[in-house]
Amino acid sequence: MEVQITPCREDQRKPIPTDDSQLGFGRIFTDHMFRMSYEPERGWHDPRIVPFGPLSLSPASMVLHYGQEVFEGLKAYRGRDGGVRLFRHRDNFERLNRSCERLVIPPLDVDLMVEATRKLVLLDREWIPGSPGCSLYIRPTVIATDPYVGVAPSQTYLCFIIIGPVGAYYPEGFNPVGIWASSEYVRAVRGGMGEAKTGGNYAGSLKAQMAAREEGYAQVLWLDALERRYVEEVGTMNIFFKIDGEVVTSPLTGSILPGITRDSVLRLLAHWGIPTQERRLSIDEIFEAGKEGALEEVFGSGTAAIVTPVKEIAYKGDRLTVGDGSTGPLARRLYETILAIQYGEGDDPFGWCERID
Ligand code: COI
Repeated sequence: MEVQITPCREDQRKPIPTDDSQLGFGRIFTDHMFRMSYEPERGWHDPRIVPFGPLSLSPASMVLHYGQEVFEGLKAYRGRDGGVRLFRHRDNFERLNRSCERLVIPPLDVDLMVEATRKLVLLDREWIPGSPGCSLYIRPTVIATDPYVGVAPSQTYLCFIIIGPVGAYYPEGFNPVGIWASSEYVRAVRGGMGEAKTGGNYAGSLKAQMAAREEGYAQVLWLDALERRYVEEVGTMNIFFKIDGEVVTSPLTGSILPGITRDSVLRLLAHWGIPTQERRLSIDEIFEAGKEGALEEVFGSGTAAIVTPVKEIAYKGDRLTVGDGSTGPLARRLYETILAIQYGEGDDPFGWCERID
């Protein structure tokens, strides 16, 4: 299948932001989008790039009622050499298919999605910001479109990709954030949808996210749903704890998102000879390590968040400052190394980046 392109007219073009420091995250979109439809008789068909614009959907569309949808988040980077690069993008589309599987959505052709992404990014390449830490965020999404309010898998779907220039996800930029462990709400339980990237997981997080904000923290630190003791992940990031020289993160238990940046962090640490462990880690162990001075660093990882240092953890009224509250050397090294790979400025020992122009 060929991805057809209908470029927008000159008068449909929007102004491209000129001040990268004002980009923020997730509010600006380029001139074009990709879309493709699914029907049982035709499978996925009609892949095309069209002017960015509203979708026309029946108010009975199943996605609007039962949330049968999946999405991804990935980025394109413009290097100082002018090159445009994608980072581990096939991994994102493979994960999208695993999410599809969980939500009973027909899988997508990874090669076609890669081709669609490449064409879309290159068509709107002038929108890719060049400042360090800024990039073009790519949001592939699949939604259930049957006009039917019975509970069943939809027969028809719409896949689309929208893209837009972004700066740092957190207003703090690459500065440490505070996280707040929820003792009341849980994100996911094994067997649920926690492993899938689907909107419902994020809708379910909003209440706790607001509670965290009210307490003055950037994000929620989720504990496991059964024992409410073991750390799982943070609102939009996986999470790492450096304790006594060793970096610990939650194993992929089935209830947490298998982050691609998480995997990149683990592989870089192994490459550098820094010991890592994927094991269950309780919030009490973290507080004890903090009190004994053994908790050296805490940082999150994610496509949007890149590597984000954590300065403080709150749990049941207790507050723990991580180290001296400033960005630790390991978080900085990871952030700088990952960025250097993404912008084509450093060695890419794992061949993670593909230059597309
Ligand atoms: C990403 O890191 O790309 C994500 O999808 C997180 C998002 C929900 C902002």
